Amino acid sequence: MGTLKLEGLMKRYGASTAVEHVDLDVAEGEFVSLLGPSGCGKTTTLRMVAGFIEPSAGRVVIAGRDVTRAPPYARDTGMVFQSYALFPHMSVAQNVGFGLEMRKVGRAERDERVREALRLVRLDHLAERFPRELSGGQQQRVALARALVVKPAVFLLDEPLSNLDAKLRAEVRLEIRALQQRLGLTTLFVTHDQDEALAMSDRLVVLAHGRVQQVGTAEDLYERPANAFVAGFVGRCNVLAGTEEAPGRFRLETGTVIPCGHDGAANPATQRLLALRPERVAISRPEREDGLVGTVTSVTYLGAQTEYHVDLGGTDILAIRPTPPEGDGLRRLASGDRAALHWEPAAARLLASEE
Ligand SMILES: Nc1ncnc2c1ncn2[C@@H]1O[C@H](COP(=O)(O)OP(=O)(O)O)[C@@H](O)[C@H]1O
Ligand SMILES: [Mg+2]
Repeated sequence: MGTLKLEGLMKRYGASTAVEHVDLDVAEGEFVSLLGPSGCGKTTTLRMVAGFIEPSAGRVVIAGRDVTRAPPYARDTGMVFQSYALFPHMSVAQNVGFGLEMRKVGRAERDERVREALRLVRLDHLAERFPRELSGGQQQRVALARALVVKPAVFLLDEPLSNLDAKLRAEVRLEIRALQQRLGLTTLFVTHDQDEALAMSDRLVVLAHGRVQQVGTAEDLYERPANAFVAGFVGRCNVLAGTEEAPGRFRLETGTVIPCGHDGAANPATQRLLALRPERVAISRPEREDGLVGTVTSVTYLGAQTEYHVDLGGTDILAIRPTPPEGDGLRRLASGDRAALHWEPAAARLLASEE
């Protein structure tokens, strides 16, 4: 059973804490991403799972076995690094076979498994090449084959796509996901790229300052962010401060009152944060001066969409849904124009009060 369980995992370096507390359950065959900004503790967490870093506290359990104190080679993990880390003086086949040699797998079986792993990543025709004779994308596929060939219970990848250009990144992303699903690999994938994590994962773990902020599916995180950090990191979001002065009425710090989703008992004395996705905000030319009307402060044309910043009584709101849609003869709103904003009240979600 290729399950992975992390319990209260923590890593301290002197007075500073790289990973404060990580609890996580990864099911057999599940693809889970660790997503967070640079420095939040992703690599440290992954290396504790692989056995390259010893935790200050907590446990790592792989396939039901506590491996917290086991050396890397005794953990049944396969790891892929951002830098590929191929041996330059070894051929592709030798690189891929290295882990099997270390595990004392006999020559005949080794050759067969190396061939199979190279077939999986579609590199069987390049087995005798050296790393320097390969493109970046091919080198990364060799690194994938090298991790897969040992048939690990848990597959670990640390930003494996970040050295590839955008087009190749999108291709290799699909290849990794297809391979993972075909082989039913239990996978922990580290990235700072939210698109990558949303596109590839069964579930995501959002990490900030060494702490888990939220665990869930892409939809959970996007539609129901647990806090302002998740709302702002996963997709773009207007995060607005104020108070819910009455059910469905949110008073911004600047005094403007806007509609929001119902949240049980309103308490005008408690400071709250509201999350409002820019694609839920319809922006149009105002027909009257009542409703939510503000002034366009910037318009950025991005091809597939246009971003409008609107000053609403001193609060900046980002909107990307012009109404009616552009391109039907209506002149695009410009900086300095008056604009009306509208959204379904439920689209403006109150976030849990910060502790
Ligand atoms: N060997 C180390 N000694 C001291 N601090 C470290 C060490 N390794 C990492 N850190 C610190 O721990 C934090 C988390 O690092 P890391 O896990 O590499 O983050 P990420 O992979 O999310 O970018 C960072 O603040 C980093 O500077
Ligand atoms: Mg890292």
